[in-house]
Amino acid sequence: MAAAGKSVPRHIAIIMDGNGRWAKGRGLPRIKGHEEGARAARECVEGCAELKVDFLTLYAFSAENWQRPKAEVFALMKLLEKFLKEKTPELIEKNVRLQAIGRLTDLPDSCQEQLHRSIEATAGNTGVTLVLALSYGGRLEIIDGIKSLLHAIEVGHIDKGMIDVEMFSKHLYTRYYPDPDLLIRTSGEMRLSNFLLWQTSYTEMYVTPKLWPDFTRKDLAAAVEEYGRRQRRYGKSE
Ligand code: IPE
Ligand code: IPE
Ligand code: MG
Repeated sequence: MAAAGKSVPRHIAIIMDGNGRWAKGRGLPRIKGHEEGARAARECVEGCAELKVDFLTLYAFSAENWQRPKAEVFALMKLLEKFLKEKTPELIEKNVRLQAIGRLTDLPDSCQEQLHRSIEATAGNTGVTLVLALSYGGRLEIIDGIKSLLHAIEVGHIDKGMIDVEMFSKHLYTRYYPDPDLLIRTSGEMRLSNFLLWQTSYTEMYVTPKLWPDFTRKDLAAAVEEYGRRQRRYGKSE
């Protein structure tokens, strides 16, 4: 967890929402909105590098998003693969380390392969860590964490009496990252949509009506500025 009063968040998590509405408003197909969304994501990574944010987690595809029409899901997977392929040299140049969380084996094979290639190619980078949440669901993550804990008990690595908040956190997909300090959601929706349920217990929330493709590095800077004005109390009286 970041120290209270620290003005730049160490970890920003973003629910990138509103691509469909952005496209609809222009009479364009939804996938156009997703393409513009990918452009906004790229800008956001750059913005985080400039602001010296250490971790950026982007909610790119939820476990529930598989329920969308096949054509949209297919187009999103193609876009993800293309984005990773095209942008990996840029990630390397910008010293960005790519990681991913979620049920990654649900992704199409070619997508998984490209994802692992990009993760490997950027593994040695020391700047921003960009975490893509893919086929991610917060409740599924907690279930997977419980299974992992039960396995550790079964093989005798731990005793059930040892389980506490810190230990459980080490069995989640996010075990290598600090909890998010700031959670941004675009498109005005006031909900978590199954994103990082465990990790956001004391995260500062920032909701903007802007649709994700319209979100610029200026908007990111405004969210970070607002975060700097928040007083984090963690339940204490001051
Ligand atoms: C967010 O935009 C991108 C994904 C969920 C993949 P949406 O596609 O949810 O756009 P809206 O919310 O329908 O406008
Ligand atoms: C959340 O957006 C998921 C991502 C941004 C990837 P959704 O559009 O899926 O969320 P709901 O359906 O409005 O809650
Ligand atoms: Mg949406």
